Amino acid sequence: MKPISLVSDLMIFSLFILSFQFSLTTTRAAGGKWQLLQQNVGISAMHMQLLYNDRVIMFDRTDFGKSNLSLPNGTCVRNDCTAHSAEYDVTTNTVRPLTVQSDIWCSSGSVAPNGNLIQTGGYDIGERRVRVFEPCTGCDWKEYENTLGVNRWYATDHILPDGRQIIIGGRRQFNYEFYPKTESSSHVYSFPFLVQTNDPNEENNLYPYVFLNVDGNLFIFANNRAILFDYVMNKVVKTYPQIPGGDPRSYPSTGSAVLLPLRNLTTPSIEAEVLVCGGAPKGSYIKAIKGTFVEALNTCGRIKINDPKPQWVVETMPQARVMSDMLLLPDGTVLIINGASFGTAGWELGQNPVLEPLVYRPDNAVGSRFEKQNPASIPRMYHSTAVLLRDGRVLVGGSNPHDKYELADELFPTELRLEAFSPDYLDAKYSKLRPRIVDPKSQAKISYGKKLFIRFSLKGSIATNLVMVTIVAPSFNTHSFSMNQRLLVLAAETVKKVGTMTYQVQVTTPGSGNLAPSGYYLLYVVHQQIPSEGIWVQILL
Ligand SMILES: *[C@@H]1O[C@H](CO)[C@@H](O)[C@H](O)[C@H]1NC(C)=O
Ligand SMILES: *[C@@H]1O[C@H](CO)[C@@H](O)[C@H](O)[C@H]1NC(C)=O
Ligand SMILES: *[C@@H]1O[C@H](CO)[C@@H](O)[C@H](O)[C@H]1NC(C)=O
Repeated sequence: MKPISLVSDLMIFSLFILSFQFSLTTTRAAGGKWQLLQQNVGISAMHMQLLYNDRVIMFDRTDFGKSNLSLPNGTCVRNDCTAHSAEYDVTTNTVRPLTVQSDIWCSSGSVAPNGNLIQTGGYDIGERRVRVFEPCTGCDWKEYENTLGVNRWYATDHILPDGRQIIIGGRRQFNYEFYPKTESSSHVYSFPFLVQTNDPNEENNLYPYVFLNVDGNLFIFANNRAILFDYVMNKVVKTYPQIPGGDPRSYPSTGSAVLLPLRNLTTPSIEAEVLVCGGAPKGSYIKAIKGTFVEALNTCGRIKINDPKPQWVVETMPQARVMSDMLLLPDGTVLIINGASFGTAGWELGQNPVLEPLVYRPDNAVGSRFEKQNPASIPRMYHSTAVLLRDGRVLVGGSNPHDKYELADELFPTELRLEAFSPDYLDAKYSKLRPRIVDPKSQAKISYGKKLFIRFSLKGSIATNLVMVTIVAPSFNTHSFSMNQRLLVLAAETVKKVGTMTYQVQVTTPGSGNLAPSGYYLLYVVHQQIPSEGIWVQILL
């Protein structure tokens, strides 16, 4: 007995030394702060969308029992007197129940140019519905039955330069359609790419990653590969190589993806790059159903989508991640947050939550782009969400890996808590660097290809060559993907002093709807990588 215990003590000791050294060499300056906003918002935020009145519309589903939020004035929908949708007011940190009439489970959406949330599909009687939420005081959902051409469950929506949205795929739907419907577009268009990428055992091409390219075509990634698609002619204009390794990245293998910040917008050939991170190896879903949880993917693929010969460049994250959200932050970095390191998306199919978000710095050299952030205390597993707020914080909610509300007795209970993650740029130590926009006022209207002057104040001294302006589209987040997410860097053309501690930066607004579909954006002035609080601007059609 004795020698064995001696050996094990030694082993523990050397393990301790090893892990100590490991943490010394691999832990970069961690940043960011977590804040619990609400102990109980009453529903589990499975889908979230920020609107231009700084309120976040959230919803879960209507068919898995009673939530913890009552509908107002004793109203009920089909014998359920609880809400499955709510409006969270960021400014007052309060929640208002909303009334959905049909199941919004695993649906999709886009914000129209006028700021209304157009939300599509769902389950059961919700499958062909379009629901509209107008951001006004006391407003509620309006629902339109049988409006979609086919059932849409797990589809992806994207707003288009002409103000319509395209709705792509969904379970057993190898096609797309548009909304609003016009006489010429009442059609459902067949889309063989979704047949080709449909894994016979686990699908793996649901909630495809869709981005509007700067040339007006759509970049569409499903399973392990992507195409550039001309939705007007219904024609594939480019086929990209398979992502290295060939493992699936979309639902239920659920990684995530972003279109990296678009820059150099006034030059003739604007680059566009897509970053796809995490996911689960092929077969993980089937194995997880049988009780074996496979480690998630720890790789990202990055590709310049307009290169004549585009190639994926693979980078390695400090952790394996599945079901993480990728969010563009106002300073042009990417936040990777939420999720797990084993299993896949699906009921009780995720294990080992990943609590530390990552910040990805696209402009750093390969190998020094990822930075671990301070860990959360709440696991955010399947059906969790994250959206950027105007003040630069990230709202984090949801997580419900169960097919009903399980508030107790479970490893990962149905999560009703709402948190905010404050990236390091919000730290008070940067207050002298932080710009404050004084003009225009929030809700300003701007048009395409025009000079825009933004005045801001600064407490400390200015570095005029380190000023930029960014605009970010508020995205529809569900199932680890943010539909319509895009960030444009509007380069500072001049920066001049116009008063005591007040400056004016001149930029050019985006040249077309291919760069930035019309609608509401958050606009930030960024100085030495520290963003101001945002203002809302509306790009007019
Ligand atoms: C919400 O949960 C609390 C605490 O369990 C309970 O007291 C309250 O009645 C619940 N409300 C609803 C509407 O379910
Ligand atoms: C609930 O009832 C009160 C009092 O009748 C009314 O003022 C309020 O507008 C009602 N709220 C809703 C959401 O119907
Ligand atoms: C933008 O232009 C600069 C200078 O011409 C170049 O170094 C940079 O790679 C470009 N960035 C992108 C994303 O196109």
